Amino acid sequence: MKKPKDARPGSAGTMVELFAGVGGFRAALEPLGWRTVWANQWEPSTKTQHAADCYWRHWNDGSLVNEDINSVVDRLERDNDAIPAHDLLVGGFPCQDYSVAKTLNQAHGIEGKKGVLWWSIYRLIEAKQPKLVFLENVDRLLKSPATQRGRDFAIILACLSDLGYLVEWRVVNAAHYGFPQRRRRALIIARRMVQASPEAPLAWLYERGALAQALPVWPVEDVQPSLPARQADIILKGHPAQITQEFGWTNPMTPFRSAGVMWDRKVWTRDVDPIFDGKQQTLGEVLVPDEDVPHEFFVPEDQVARWAYLKGPKSEERTAANGHRYFYSEGGIAFPDRTDIPSRTVLTGEGGTSPSRFKHVVRAKDGRLRRLTPVELERLNGFAPGWTEGMPDGRRAFMMGNALVVGLVKQVGQELSASSTGALQVVS
Ligand SMILES: C[S@@+](CC[C@H](N)C(=O)[O-])C[C@H]1O[C@@H](n2cnc3c(N)ncnc32)[C@H](O)[C@@H]1O
Repeated sequence: MKKPKDARPGSAGTMVELFAGVGGFRAALEPLGWRTVWANQWEPSTKTQHAADCYWRHWNDGSLVNEDINSVVDRLERDNDAIPAHDLLVGGFPCQDYSVAKTLNQAHGIEGKKGVLWWSIYRLIEAKQPKLVFLENVDRLLKSPATQRGRDFAIILACLSDLGYLVEWRVVNAAHYGFPQRRRRALIIARRMVQASPEAPLAWLYERGALAQALPVWPVEDVQPSLPARQADIILKGHPAQITQEFGWTNPMTPFRSAGVMWDRKVWTRDVDPIFDGKQQTLGEVLVPDEDVPHEFFVPEDQVARWAYLKGPKSEERTAANGHRYFYSEGGIAFPDRTDIPSRTVLTGEGGTSPSRFKHVVRAKDGRLRRLTPVELERLNGFAPGWTEGMPDGRRAFMMGNALVVGLVKQVGQELSASSTGALQVVS
């Protein structure tokens, strides 16, 4: 990874962090000189705000507002100073249904479903016009909804295009760049453009974009990617309400591949293969000595069979709540988990003692089976050990299921520069 040239606070620019959780973006980008001037985190499902408490414990500088982002953005429409000006907007936002119910409304161009968080992001970008936007989401974002594959992502791209942004995206498995977790996420970078000439968008996708620079790739299908592009693969036509109604009905699968570039409603998209020849970290490398693992993390002998059943292959008849009988089958997954390769993805349900198919289980040196401790989960995401201390273990696991791979975001952050975006050209 390149060394940051100047990491004085604010030397890279100012930043706002949405859906901040326990501060994964800030932990990654602050050391590169991005100064957080405002942040927002509010958990709708619990009274106690564990994530915000954790954030405050690390950064007690008055930047974090613990309030529903929808309410803050409502206020922003009356008072543009409700959120300060900033160069970079970041956030890992939940994957929801982004459909637009109404057609063009005179007062406001786009009217999305209430409570759908994309529309808060959109309204904020519209009001504050940051030079750069860096978003993270599950890879399902590119495929949803099931009935209209790719429709939601098409809405997002069209919105960003209409606000004057050039967008690049990538679906990345963190383990492909050496990290100890096989976490797959969609990374999206948008740059507000004064001018762009996307005559070589494939070169941007493969070589010159921030994502290509940070996370190098090989083309899977193009032999000479730096040649000027052919026609765009997709042209996003119509108001987002029209995209909602029309996009993707006949798509058996999403048209959005694992990498892409979009400018002026034109989309170029390709599958790519990662290039990485560094050290591959493994699950085994983040484990603490067995002696340091509290007894409640060890699987009681009488529950081993239940864990084995849940993780094993099955093919069985089941009865639904309404009495309907159906056949259920699934393959087996490793039990215990292999420690010589990167872990599976940490999910929000990783914590707690109850047996589960998806929680990780490793074998201790004395042969017993055990779950992963909060510190091990923090290490799988690259947070400093103890980052989420101060809340119950189950919540600590939940936070890590929601969070991101800090080192991956940092690697991309190295390639972001607020100063170079104004007159950026896609062509060389
Ligand atoms: C995918 S997580 C992001 C985690 C974060 N990147 C981190 O490193 O911890 C999404 C976050 O959005 C928060 N959230 C959900 N609804 C919200 C809302 N209406 N307003 C503000 N935050 C919200 C959740 O509590 C959760 O922490």
